[in-house]
Parts: sequence; C-alpha cells; structure tokens
Amino acid sequence: MSQINLTINGESVQAESGMTILAAARAAGIYIPTLCHHTELDSYGSCRLCVVEIGSGERKKVVASCLYQVAEGLVVETESEKIKGFRRTILNLLMHRWDKIPAELLERYGAKSQERFVDNMTYCILCGLCVRYCHEIKGANVLGFIGRGTIRQVVIFPNQSAKYCADCCPDDMECLDFCPTGVINSHYYGARPADGQKLPHAHPVCINEDMNILEIFERVGNV
Ligand code: FES
Repeated sequence: MSQINLTINGESVQAESGMTILAAARAAGIYIPTLCHHTELDSYGSCRLCVVEIGSGERKKVVASCLYQVAEGLVVETESEKIKGFRRTILNLLMHRWDKIPAELLERYGAKSQERFVDNMTYCILCGLCVRYCHEIKGANVLGFIGRGTIRQVVIFPNQSAKYCADCCPDDMECLDFCPTGVINSHYYGARPADGQKLPHAHPVCINEDMNILEIFERVGNV
C-alpha cells in the first residue's frame, strides 16, 4: 500500500491507496453523511447522500465518496453549495418513505418535511443493508430486491427463509439491527420502533419460487 496525498475542503489529507474518499475523510475527522454505507459490507452506492465534488474549475464532477477511490493530488469538496443542494433533494425525496430521518441531518441541509406524503410512508429507504448483510455475511440470500424505480422493493424468499432464518434466530439475526428505519424488525416480529409508532405496511413483501413473474409483480404492486 502506498501513501496518497489529497486535499479535502482545503486541508491536506494522507490516505492509503485503495481507500475510498469516504474512508479517507472519516479517518481525517471530516464529516460526510451516509445512509447505505456500512463498514462491514461492500459499498453499494444507493442513497447518494455521500456525494462529494472532485476536481477543479470546468473539470469538477460529483461522485459517490463511498465508491470513489483516493488518488494522488485529488481535490475534494464535501460541502459545496452544489453538494448541499444534492443532499437536500435526496433528503426531501427520502422523506416520502421515512419521516424519522435524523433532524440534525434535515436541518444541516435545509430539507423540509412534506406533510402530504405522510400517508404513503413505506419506511424502507432501499438502502439494501439487510439484503447485503444476508448475502455477504450470512451467504443466505433470504432477502432480495425486485422491481425498478418507484416499485423497487425488498422481498423475502420464504423457501430460503425456512432454510436459513431459524439458524440466525433469535440472537444472531443482525439483519434486523442493520435496518436504519426499523421496518424489517416490524415485519418479522411485529415489533415497533423505539418511539412506539405503528408502521403502516408489512414490508418487505413475501414471494416464493412457485410464483411466475407476473404474479410476483402483481404482489409487489399490490402492497
Ligand atoms: Fe454512498 Fe449511500 S453512502 S451512496
């Protein structure tokens, strides 16, 4: 591993080759918000909250810091006006799904609660932490994604669940702890988030191997 010198927010930072910008920034005590990143799992790049600007002048571009690796001489800005605007938009969109986003995050980027979406909360922000935990750490693949865009959802494969979840339960079922909103816990155990609020949807959706693709999409669309 060789040492890399880069600049983050005007400060000189040293990192090791192969590190992501996010890891280098955190090692240097520089804050970058994340929702889908976890140090025990591969980076996934779904929430885009960790975006930063790299380069300078006309050649600036926006990248996900949890995926982009450091390079010698790289110039990074983590809180430019453009980046704050991106994060505000992302948080505004996420509030359609989860109304318990930490208040300090909303305040920091000026995101505003939008009351009209309150009835449509799914409490799943599609961060994929539960799916990736089950796949990468447990090798079980009980959970997965289905669909794209607005119908994208986390699903449970009951045949896999019957095979693997009993071995994980009850002490080791960390997929529940990985869920930032608590919705997966609610689905499995009927548990409630710490504030006692009832979650409106049973989620993720169960599908099984006997269903054809049309049945699966009908199931997903009917949630
Ligand atoms: Fe990088 Fe979610 S933390 S995309």
